[in-house]
Amino acid sequence: EGRGAVLLGIETSCDETGVGLVRVGADGPELLGQAVASSQDEHARFGGVVPEIASRAHLEAMVPTVRAAFARAGLEPRDVDAIAVTAGPGLAGALLVGVAAAKAYAAAWDVPLFGVNHLAGHVAADTLEHGPLPTPALALLVSGGHTQLLRVDDLAGSITEIGTTIDDAAGEAYDKVARLLGLSYPGGPVIDRLAGDGDPAAIRFPRGLTGPQDPAYDFSFSGLKTAVARYIEQAERDGRVVDVPDVCASFQEAVVDVLTAKTVRAAVELGIGTVVVAGGVAANGRLRALAQQRCAAAGLTLRVPRPGLCTDNGAMIAAVGAAVLAAGGVPSGPALTGNPGLP
Ligand code: KG4
Ligand code: ZN
Repeated sequence: EGRGAVLLGIETSCDETGVGLVRVGADGPELLGQAVASSQDEHARFGGVVPEIASRAHLEAMVPTVRAAFARAGLEPRDVDAIAVTAGPGLAGALLVGVAAAKAYAAAWDVPLFGVNHLAGHVAADTLEHGPLPTPALALLVSGGHTQLLRVDDLAGSITEIGTTIDDAAGEAYDKVARLLGLSYPGGPVIDRLAGDGDPAAIRFPRGLTGPQDPAYDFSFSGLKTAVARYIEQAERDGRVVDVPDVCASFQEAVVDVLTAKTVRAAVELGIGTVVVAGGVAANGRLRALAQQRCAAAGLTLRVPRPGLCTDNGAMIAAVGAAVLAAGGVPSGPALTGNPGLP
């Protein structure tokens, strides 16, 4: 059902205004065109996203980004059969801009509107590249706001949390460590790049929650961040120059070692053969390489979307909408609103 239908996806949960056009197909959703406008540069001097700035930037970027997505797809508004919009989780004001825009377009074009979960969107991004997801699948979702292990039985609805971070998200750890090192925001891509020139074994940073008594599928990154801060302070006290690439590589190794070890363990113990790595941190080169190596060793099939589909975008939201539409989902009513704490 819904096959051939064209979905417009709108994403505004954080600092990217993302708009994507996707066609529902038997081989999974097909990406027709997308555009992303980011307010990252406006947040850079604050070292993190400023919600008020993000909301205003979404408001300014929304219509031009919708137009750009249509232009890239070679489509027009009358080609759209349904709209999907991120309903949460995310920043309250930022979500409201996307939801309000989506409602306006849905009313103007007289098409159904579906409010969808941003986190399901990150997982669904993979279907744009690799086709329908075999289920059950185990998803490692690693972004600026979340770090979770999810059992995915149905992208259109049934996703269960197996584990989560008890403090910082993985992307948040990258951003905070980048700040400690005086690097720019967002820290992930910068650390990823600098780590290439460093030695991952130079400093042995702690691996959070890996003791025998610790919860096997939960994560913790705040101790690691503190250890990096202490390392830098100590070096300054000793009058030593901090080797930034070595710190980046060693920090990154501690993060991706834990992420991949726990993911593979969960997949093996739960008897799930397909692993998806998704979210902004899934763009990380070392995470992708180590996940590939460890999944192959354990006989697991790994799926990771290309980096451009890992960070926030509208196509991934349209991809969830495509799954919901194909499953005969009920459209959201006019009462749809943003839910910052959507689980
Ligand atoms: O999924 P996303 O775009 O937005 C959220 O939903 O949070 O993820 C953004 C996060 C940021 O913390 C950013 O530093 C991190 O993803 N990130 C990376 C890389 N690219 C983005 N972390 C590590 N390596 C990267 N290449
Ligand atoms: Zn995200």
